Amino acid sequence: MSEDIPDTSEFGSVDPAPPSGMTDVETLREILCNEESKMFARMRALFALRNIGGNESVDALANAFDSESALLKHEIAYVMGQMQDSHAVPYLIERLSDSDEDLMVRHEAAEALGAIGDRVAMDTLEKFRYDSEPVIAESCEVAIDLMNWVQSKSLEY
Ligand SMILES: [Fe+2]
Repeated sequence: MSEDIPDTSEFGSVDPAPPSGMTDVETLREILCNEESKMFARMRALFALRNIGGNESVDALANAFDSESALLKHEIAYVMGQMQDSHAVPYLIERLSDSDEDLMVRHEAAEALGAIGDRVAMDTLEKFRYDSEPVIAESCEVAIDLMNWVQSKSLEY
C-alpha cells in the first residue's frame, strides 16, 4: 500500500474504490452520471464527491439517482448517510418513497436517513415502518430507533 493511497477513509471504512484525485465537482458529476463509464470510475467519482462534501457535491451525487444501476444508487445513498448532510434528506426521502425503486436502494436510503438524523424524515420512516417488504419495514424501524436513541443520548447531557 503506497502512502498516498490510504486503505481507510476518514469515515473509517474501506471504500470499494479509491476516491478519484479530481476536485472539480462538475467533472466528477459528469463521470458519475455517465452510463458509459466503467463502474469503477463512477465509484471513484462518487467517493471523491463524498470527501469534498457540501451542497454542490450532494446535488451532484443525487443527480445520479437517475442512473440505471441499483448498485450505484445504493452506494450514493450510503455515502449520503456517511456525509450526515441534511441537504441530502429530500433526495433520500424520494428514493425511499419510490415503490418502483430497487429494494437495496430503498433500504440504504432509510438507513442513511437514520444516520443523518434529521427528524424531517420521521414522517416518511413512520409511513414505511410496516411496509409489506420486510427489508423496507426493518430498515425504517432501525432508522427510527437510531434517531430516537441519538436524541435520548443528547438529552442526557
Ligand atoms: Fe445497508
